[in-house]
Amino acid sequence: MRGFITDPGGRAGLRLADDLPEPSPGPHEAVVEVRAYAVNHDELNLIARRPDGWRPGQDVAGVVVRAAADGGGPVAGTRVAGYLDWEGWSERISVPAHCLAALDDRVSFEEAATLPIAGLTALRALRVGGAVLGRKVLVTGATGGVGQFAVQLAVAAGAHVTAQVSDPEREAEAHALGAHQVVTSLEDDTLGPFHLVLDGIGGPLTAQAVRRIAPGGHLAWYGNIGGAAELRLADFYAQGWNAHIVGFISPVPEETKGEDLAILTALVADGRLTPRIGLALPWEKTPDALDALARREIRGKAVLTVGDGR
Ligand SMILES: NC(=O)c1ccc[n+]([C@@H]2O[C@H](COP(=O)([O-])OP(=O)(O)OC[C@H]3O[C@@H](n4cnc5c(N)ncnc54)[C@H](OP(=O)(O)O)[C@@H]3O)[C@@H](O)[C@H]2O)c1
Repeated sequence: MRGFITDPGGRAGLRLADDLPEPSPGPHEAVVEVRAYAVNHDELNLIARRPDGWRPGQDVAGVVVRAAADGGGPVAGTRVAGYLDWEGWSERISVPAHCLAALDDRVSFEEAATLPIAGLTALRALRVGGAVLGRKVLVTGATGGVGQFAVQLAVAAGAHVTAQVSDPEREAEAHALGAHQVVTSLEDDTLGPFHLVLDGIGGPLTAQAVRRIAPGGHLAWYGNIGGAAELRLADFYAQGWNAHIVGFISPVPEETKGEDLAILTALVADGRLTPRIGLALPWEKTPDALDALARREIRGKAVLTVGDGR
């Protein structure tokens, strides 16, 4: 069976192996034939940290070819999306049934593959701090993989959404996602105050965002792609008295991954959430997608198709 493994001699630290073992599923696991997968920023780090034949791949979409032996989860033939820990960039994989969601026919494999990590991060981070109906929400990195979903989901949940983008060139894109206000800087004192901030950037932006939080508000801090953040107590005293910073991680809780993925796939089927696919390539070109991701060339998500992707 074919699948990508880490290899320091290969492009982007990867090699497409053709001698991998077929999946040997546990009793709660289904076997999925992969038709599309997405790549995530953190996978660049994981590949560099595990150069020894490790098998990357967390976001997949495909078809169940063998249902879980314990009878749980989708039956054979079901089109699914899945959120894995690893091994997803392969032709076939075993997936715990609770990490799978069945797909409506209106959702393509490419769209579904964008959802697991980026979509669950946005969905779950948006729950931090409770209801957002009529409240102000700030999303940093709004045109990135997570940011694009966070803006759309916050708008769908009834929030007034401010999108921060890195460059004026991205402003139109952030408006197209539904953002009510788009900014390239958080220095403006009139911004907010925000009931909730979703921050995947870190660096100086985090302290600036904290200065815009409403009293008792929340900042879900899920990434620091822009570097380490330096915070002072005075940043909270700007207005965010007793505000909370949550060190956010998307795979927790583990047992409801499939349930949350089903919420996202249903929103896509209904046309209320549109995954933005900035790059789509055949899976043999996965190293190109990783290089483009590292060079900040991708808007939204990069998706790879396995076979004809259907
Ligand atoms: N905690 C979790 O569970 C979790 C889950 C998912 C992601 N993450 C982390 O969250 C971060 C964002 O993930 P993603 O998938 O959205 O990444 P992505 O698709 O690469 O998007 C990154 C976003 O950040 C901006 N950006 C990139 N480098 C930057 C820099 N040096 N300074 C300022 N802005 C920068 C990009 O703007 P441009 O468009 O201008 O490049 C883009 O808007 C990553 O660090 C990732 O590892 C964490």
